[in-house]
Amino acid sequence: MAKPLIAGNWKMHGTAAEAVALARQLVKNEHSCAGVQLAIFPPTLHLGLVASELSGSAIALGAQNVSEHGPGAFTGEVSADMLKETGCDYTLVGHSERRTLFGEVDGAVADKFKAAQRSDLVPILCVGETLQQRQQGLTLDVIAKQINAVKDKVGIENLCRGVIAYEPVWAIGTGEVASPEEAQLVHIVIRELLGPGGIGTSLLYGGSVKASNAAELFAEPDIDGGLVGGASLEADEFLKIAQLMT
Ligand code: 13P
Repeated sequence: MAKPLIAGNWKMHGTAAEAVALARQLVKNEHSCAGVQLAIFPPTLHLGLVASELSGSAIALGAQNVSEHGPGAFTGEVSADMLKETGCDYTLVGHSERRTLFGEVDGAVADKFKAAQRSDLVPILCVGETLQQRQQGLTLDVIAKQINAVKDKVGIENLCRGVIAYEPVWAIGTGEVASPEEAQLVHIVIRELLGPGGIGTSLLYGGSVKASNAAELFAEPDIDGGLVGGASLEADEFLKIAQLMT
């Protein structure tokens, strides 16, 4: 079984100096969460700087987005090979902010997942329902559709080699968190969609995770780690969350 993964999505926050300072603080204290794989996802522009700070550390580096294309005339995009060369091990794909604010559809998300694996990055596929979909009782249908789009593109074995993060859209940045039982139920359904090959696949929960609510989420048997947004911008809080996974 892989180590539990605690991933910090910094989103579009922080100056270069702040990114370096945060990475430094994490490196200084990473010994406090041995047994957990930490990964941080700084803004693209700061990846190189943060990669230098992480040299010699066990903290992994990830990107928040990746182009589905190889090299070419794609203004403003960053390829999977470029991310790999910069020191990334992971990339998020299909984060709900990319889906809702930047029009990423299931097909493009599947292509990004494929592009990431082609360059030896571990894709973290983000899935989750909106508040409206939840109120209409569509949660499990939405999750299945988002996951099956990737499965159809890359095949079940490759899907199982990635990481899946369940991030209910209504819980992101709102302070509202899915109850442990709700999150566990969705994780069981994801596990079932993956079939026997998905027993060892890391399934993360994300959405307003904090040190004050992480322990009960992480106690659920199918929650293998967390994808943390706001709380990952504070080194102490992020490390505290990771310690709850040990
Ligand atoms: P918050 O933890 O700020 O709710 O963000 C979650 C998230 O979107 C992580 O990718």
